[in-house]
Amino acid sequence: MAGGFVSQTPGVRNYNYKLTPKVFITCFIGAFGGLIFGYDLGISGGVTSMEPFLKEFFPHVYKKMKSAHENEYCRFDSELLTLFTSSLYLAALVSSLFASTITRIFGRKWSMFLGGFTFFVGSAFNGFAQNIAMLLIGRILLGFGVGFANQSVPVYLSEMAPPNLRGAFNNGFQVAIIFGIVVATIINYFTAQMKGNIGWRISLGLACVPAMMIMFGALILPDTPNSLIERGFAEEAKEMLRSLRGTDEVEEEFQDLIDASEESKQVKHPWKNILLPRYRPQLIMTCAIPFFQQLTGINVITFYAPVLFQTLGFGSKASLLSAMVTGIIELLCTFVAVFTVDRFGRRVLFLQGGIQMLISQIAIGIMIGVKFGTVGTGNIGKTDANVIVALICIYVAGFAWSWGPLGWLVPSEISPLEIRSAAQAINVAVNMFFTFLVAQLFLTMLCHMKFGLFFFFAVFVFIMTIFIYLMLPETKNVPIEEMNRVWKAHWFWGRFIPDEAVGVSAAELQQKAV
Ligand code: BGC
Repeated sequence: MAGGFVSQTPGVRNYNYKLTPKVFITCFIGAFGGLIFGYDLGISGGVTSMEPFLKEFFPHVYKKMKSAHENEYCRFDSELLTLFTSSLYLAALVSSLFASTITRIFGRKWSMFLGGFTFFVGSAFNGFAQNIAMLLIGRILLGFGVGFANQSVPVYLSEMAPPNLRGAFNNGFQVAIIFGIVVATIINYFTAQMKGNIGWRISLGLACVPAMMIMFGALILPDTPNSLIERGFAEEAKEMLRSLRGTDEVEEEFQDLIDASEESKQVKHPWKNILLPRYRPQLIMTCAIPFFQQLTGINVITFYAPVLFQTLGFGSKASLLSAMVTGIIELLCTFVAVFTVDRFGRRVLFLQGGIQMLISQIAIGIMIGVKFGTVGTGNIGKTDANVIVALICIYVAGFAWSWGPLGWLVPSEISPLEIRSAAQAINVAVNMFFTFLVAQLFLTMLCHMKFGLFFFFAVFVFIMTIFIYLMLPETKNVPIEEMNRVWKAHWFWGRFIPDEAVGVSAAELQQKAV
């Protein structure tokens, strides 16, 4: 058990660098990669609640929405409508698997560039869509873009950052995601008030802006020292390390990167190797963390906040406004993670955020259950609706400083170089698969499980909080190529890591850990 609480793992070096403008600027630009994902997450929910959009592409949903005596829980239930939202995530799943090869062989930046490019083409298809086919092709292209960006950007940020600030820098990705969501909801708020088809076209078409930002950003970004070494450019990597860290004394870190690269050369097939017992902790974590992140139920809020608020009896404008408020709260609260993740560590944030989400979800379930019951008819008063919005904000805040940023940070920092690209691809693929499932099933689940849906997600939040408590060792301040030592010192995972992977005898570690 003790390993779970170790924050300073025995044998782990601490390079302790200062912050340089170069690392700050490259990570700032690199984080743009999160914008395309965020913009899309934020735009879909609003667009699918716009009447002209529904009338044009989903007339049966529009009719259903208008019928006065519908069961509130089932107002928006339509497989085709959810397919519009969720098709993107299946495409992202597929492309993240290809992206891992490009990221490894050509470097992180080219995956980022490709991500921006395909997203750009997808935004054009969507903005000019004349029929459902164009709409879906556009969504699939956007999905390819998201897969490439999400596979490469978190790894890029984790490798560029100095180890003692890796959490903060990596969280820049989540900040960009939420920023994208907020900008999208604000755009939706205004375009929803436009007459005819122009509103949703602007909302979908403007996705080209973040796409161009990441595309041009990627062109000017340098590649990471880790990737340069991996591809045989050791001298360039050392130079890069010096300029990133702002000192000539980078020998220790450089040597760690070289060692890691040597070790990784033994591994010819990352996809086969990740199945070996010695990578078991990374494999389980890169599957469990994204799975749990999606099972927090966050995307019920992200995609369907406007729909959910309308279900609660808010008008269409008030619903978009409330979605905007929850987005802004999420953005602000993500900064809590940025400023604390390297000080308090990942575990504290995971555990505190989990408990906060659990309590608020149960409270939301009870409130909606009491007001709408199982029949789903009834009216919710203004005060009650406001209390529910406040509870949703508390839930979102908890996610914003825990599972949101950490769901991207932890998988990107726990794997040794030889399996890092494959592990990150698995992380994205699992994340996208469950994003797809939640997006696809939420409206049907709401229709059938009613308020019980919130209890459903609460059960998972309970399980994941226990899981983190028992199974995730603390990784703050640990240099990325030294992570094996953390696993080796853990009460459960230690047995999977061979002694030679850490260069310290197990007995020595055990002794120091006690
Ligand atoms: C998650 C998304 C979510 C977003 C905003 C990300 O970390 O992966 O699924 O929509 O945060 O809440």
